[in-house]
Amino acid sequence: MHNPKSYAKANALQRRDAKFALAMWKPLCWDVPGDVLDLGCGPGDVTVDLLRPSVPSLSLLFRMESDVLQDELKAGEYATRPKAGKAELRNESLLMEFHNALPFLPHSERKIVGVDQAREMVAYANDRWGKEARQELNVDFLHIPALAGPPDEDLDDLENLERPEPFPCYFAKAFSFFALHWAPDIPSLLRTLKIVRRSLVGGGEAKLVLLAHCPVFSVYKDLSSTLQGWEKFIGPYHDSPDPEEEFRGHLLEAGFLDPQVELINRHITYPNILFLSKAMEAVNPFLDLSEGPCSKEILDMCVDEIQKYTVKRSDGSLSGEYTLLIATASAPHHNGGR
Ligand SMILES: C[S@@+](CC[C@H](N)C(=O)[O-])C[C@H]1O[C@@H](n2cnc3c(N)ncnc32)[C@H](O)[C@@H]1O
Repeated sequence: MHNPKSYAKANALQRRDAKFALAMWKPLCWDVPGDVLDLGCGPGDVTVDLLRPSVPSLSLLFRMESDVLQDELKAGEYATRPKAGKAELRNESLLMEFHNALPFLPHSERKIVGVDQAREMVAYANDRWGKEARQELNVDFLHIPALAGPPDEDLDDLENLERPEPFPCYFAKAFSFFALHWAPDIPSLLRTLKIVRRSLVGGGEAKLVLLAHCPVFSVYKDLSSTLQGWEKFIGPYHDSPDPEEEFRGHLLEAGFLDPQVELINRHITYPNILFLSKAMEAVNPFLDLSEGPCSKEILDMCVDEIQKYTVKRSDGSLSGEYTLLIATASAPHHNGGR
C-alpha cells in the first residue's frame, strides 16, 4: 500500500464490506465504559464515514438533531424520538433538560482513536479531517509502531507492560477492518491480537474483519519469482483448509474469550479492467521497490495474472470471489495487567 490518496479512491470493496460487517454486528452493545479503537485505520474514511455513525456520541446526535429541531420548533411541537433515546422530546423545555443531562449520562461521548503503522496514512487522515473536524467528530488519528514485531519475541512479556502500549488508553471496543491480513506471518498476527486484547478494558470486545482467501494473494504467489518478499504479503489464512477454526484458535491463544468467527463468501464485480487495476494498485505492496521491475511493469503483470481468477463478461465487467473472516471476541473481565 503505497499511497493513501489512491487507496482512498479505490477502496470501494473495503468500504462495502466494512458496512456489511457493521450491519451484521447491529445492535452493538455499549455496556462497558471506554473509547473505541480502529486498528489499521488507513486514510480514515471508514473510521469517519462508517464507524463514527455506529458509535454512540450523544452530543454529536444532539448537534445533528438540533438542526432538524430548530425547524421543528419554529413549526410548533417537536416530537422526534432520538435514535439513542429513551425520552421523547415534546417541547423546548424537555429538550433543554435532555441537553443539560448529557454530561451526566454514562459513557455518552466515546472517542474513536484510529491508529495505523503507516505514517503516510495517518498524515493523510489528519490532513483530510483537520483539528476542528476531528474535535467535532471526536476522532483522533495516531501513528503507532508496527505491532507485528519479531516472531520469536516472548508474547508473555506483553503481560508485564503497565500501559496498553502502544495505545493512548484502554478501549471498550477495538475494531479492525482489512488490516490484520497484512500480518507477515502467524506469530506476528498473534502478537498483534494479544496487544489488541490487552488494550481492551475488562469485558471489552474486538470486532474484526480480515481477508481469508483472496485472488490477489494467489497472484502474488504465482508471480513469486519476480515479487521479492512475496511470502510476507499473503494473508495468513489464504491457504488454510479451515480459516474459521484456525482464527478462532488464534483468538483464544491471544487471550480472548468466546470468539465467534464466521467465514463469509464474497463476490465483487468491477465495471471494467481500469477499476480492477486501480483497486489492485491501491493495495499492492510491491510498487515502491527500488530494485527489479518498475511499478508499471509490476502492476501490469498483476492485472494480467488476476484475470485467471476472474470471470469477464461481454460488457467488459470482471467478477471475482474471495472469503472474509468476520469475528467478535471478548476480553476477560480481569484483563491483563489491570
Ligand atoms: C487495507 S488498509 C485498510 C484501511 C481501512 N481500515 C479500510 O478498511 O479501508 C490496511 C491498513 O492497515 C494498516 N495496518 C496493517 N497492519 C497493522 C497493524 N498491525 N497495526 C496498525 N496498522 C496496521 C496498514 O498500514 C494499512 O494502512
